[in-house]
Amino acid sequence: MFSNLKQQPADKILALMQAFREDPRDTKIDLGVGVYKNAEGVTPVMRAVKAAEKQLWEQQETKAYTGLAGDPGFSDAMIDLVLGDSVARDSISAAATPGGTGACRQAFEMIRWSNPEARVFVSNPTWPNHLSILKFLNMPVVEYRYFDGETRGVDFDGMIADLKQAKKGDVVLLHGCCHNPTGANLNMAQWQEVVAVLLETGAVPMIDIAYQGFGDGLEEDAQATRLVASSVPECLIAASCSKNFGVYRERTGILMAISQDTSLVGLTQGSLNFLNRQNYSFPPDHGARVVTMILQDPALRADWAAELEEVRLSMLGLREQLAGELQRLSGSDRFGFLAQHRGMFSRLGTTPELVEVMRKEHAIYMVGDSRMNIAGLNKTSVPILAQAIIDAGV
Ligand code: LMR
Repeated sequence: MFSNLKQQPADKILALMQAFREDPRDTKIDLGVGVYKNAEGVTPVMRAVKAAEKQLWEQQETKAYTGLAGDPGFSDAMIDLVLGDSVARDSISAAATPGGTGACRQAFEMIRWSNPEARVFVSNPTWPNHLSILKFLNMPVVEYRYFDGETRGVDFDGMIADLKQAKKGDVVLLHGCCHNPTGANLNMAQWQEVVAVLLETGAVPMIDIAYQGFGDGLEEDAQATRLVASSVPECLIAASCSKNFGVYRERTGILMAISQDTSLVGLTQGSLNFLNRQNYSFPPDHGARVVTMILQDPALRADWAAELEEVRLSMLGLREQLAGELQRLSGSDRFGFLAQHRGMFSRLGTTPELVEVMRKEHAIYMVGDSRMNIAGLNKTSVPILAQAIIDAGV
């Protein structure tokens, strides 16, 4: 039996993580996997997470199963965080999932289950694991133009033209904020146009929001998701707590399904529960419970939001420092886009060959498509990276 299995190509992001670990050079800089690191290169447990875990340890009396959709308190708290009051609560069904990846996987399964013909429109580029899971599920994928290699911003005309090709029953996968891997994002006027195209075509949006609070702020980063969710008849939202709560390994995420036809909500909730049961029964609880405690307790919530804001501002500072350093070294503004991008990542927009040169000659690790994790930098490594970019001839 096992001999029938097919060797799969290594995930590029995870392979890079491994290559970095194995590099003996002490000057090495890791701009690979999307994990926040502070100036000391540590991915800290957030203060509010520590405090909530302590309370949980003291107060929790059972680890018996929760519900198939996880704890309802988690759903309510996350719906409030992501959607605020933009959408009526009785139009939303939700289920906890193992991280944002679990939410994406369950969403794709739900789409395929409901309509095996559905094509999923994905940005070119998108997070590689979107493509990998869709391929694994044998689902038809259509790419829409997104990144403009010249400006390093969004090719908005191309995006709109391609999205107009979607049909009723298709799904359009959108990044709610902090686009991964490019860092290039739409403004709200552009989101309005996307909504108009969705309404015109009848395609269903699926929003992946994995970096709320990393771009322009917690509320600001949710605006696009709220606009879309409140404007269309049906919508799926996959949200992750991995990054904004720093609970990566706890696998904490949620899938929401919104329907303006509230008579469908019982059916969608039952379907989310069923899908959880088929794939892993009950979703993981520890991270979800910690997140719920933080969001429900005003003091913990304020401390969490303050620390998240420190994280966001530190990444913005690094972006500005890097853009400034490159302006000085290149004598041009051609790297100004780095300060305009938002979130954890920026796509430098260079070739895999030059990415390889930077890895070999400068021990700088970025993903082959030239995605850089800005949080992998600190004030000292920014000038080193800037010099390497110039020396490599980017
Ligand atoms: C990333 O894009 O680096 C993160 O979302 C981590 C992952 O699982 O790929």
